[in-house]
Amino acid sequence: MHPTVNIAVRAARAAGDVILRYHNQVDLLTIENKSLNDFVSEVDKTAEKAIINEIKKAFPKHSILAEESGKTLGDDNFLWIIDPLDGTTNFLHGFPQYAVSIALVEKGVTTHAVIYDPFKEELFTSSKGEGAYLNDERMRVTMSLGLKDTLIGTGFPFKQPQHLDCYLETFKAIHPHVSGIRRAGAAALDLAYLAAGRLDGFWEIGLNSWDIAAGSLMVKEAGGFIGDFSGRDQYMETGNVVAGNAEVYKELLKKIHPHLTADLQR
Ligand code: IPD
Ligand code: CA
Ligand code: CA
Repeated sequence: MHPTVNIAVRAARAAGDVILRYHNQVDLLTIENKSLNDFVSEVDKTAEKAIINEIKKAFPKHSILAEESGKTLGDDNFLWIIDPLDGTTNFLHGFPQYAVSIALVEKGVTTHAVIYDPFKEELFTSSKGEGAYLNDERMRVTMSLGLKDTLIGTGFPFKQPQHLDCYLETFKAIHPHVSGIRRAGAAALDLAYLAAGRLDGFWEIGLNSWDIAAGSLMVKEAGGFIGDFSGRDQYMETGNVVAGNAEVYKELLKKIHPHLTADLQR
């Protein structure tokens, strides 16, 4: 494992300890509503502090963009993008599908990534050019040759209801052609599962860079494709994501594109 990934793993495990400490006591947490259906608790904040603390120890000069505390200035050539708890709503309901997501972006290119599910003890790691791993096993995307018989992941735009009608049109376009569609509630894990061959494809409108950064490297390093709704690579900026193995990615883009409103063309 690359030494930088080792640091990120240490940080992710520290956050995982915080998350597990609270997972049977969610009733005791103070929950704030950041915006529509967007919640944060002291678990998110404490986990984020634990991650930043580990990263700062090893790389005091690097910049950090973390969901709950925003941007910490430093050398912008090295930017850590952190989601301390992806799947907060699941966590707050005791629904065990959530993870820590950490990525390092060097001069605009994502180079290292860790996604850690502390409940299932699944550690997904990747470094650019070195493949992607689940625990110690190499991950590969599936070999499915089209949408037939596939299992596709997605997310509902529950924080952006203005996109619901458009989303439902894309859903209707994809639904008849696949075996199943799953909305598990943690986008970082959706991408990690795609890399692990547990899903064949994925699409979602309006994510944030901290939901996507780590998972996108894993998808690519596992042989998959990820892009925005125009098939380009602006997904971190637009938050609109399509991903899959080569064939599924192509087919999903084709099904989604005709239904997009003007503001979602990228
Ligand atoms: C959310 C999850 C969810 C996705 C949302 C994200 P959070 O992240 O990834 O699957 O649909 O758009 O915001 O808020 O739980 O970190
Ligand atoms: Ca998230
Ligand atoms: Ca989060």
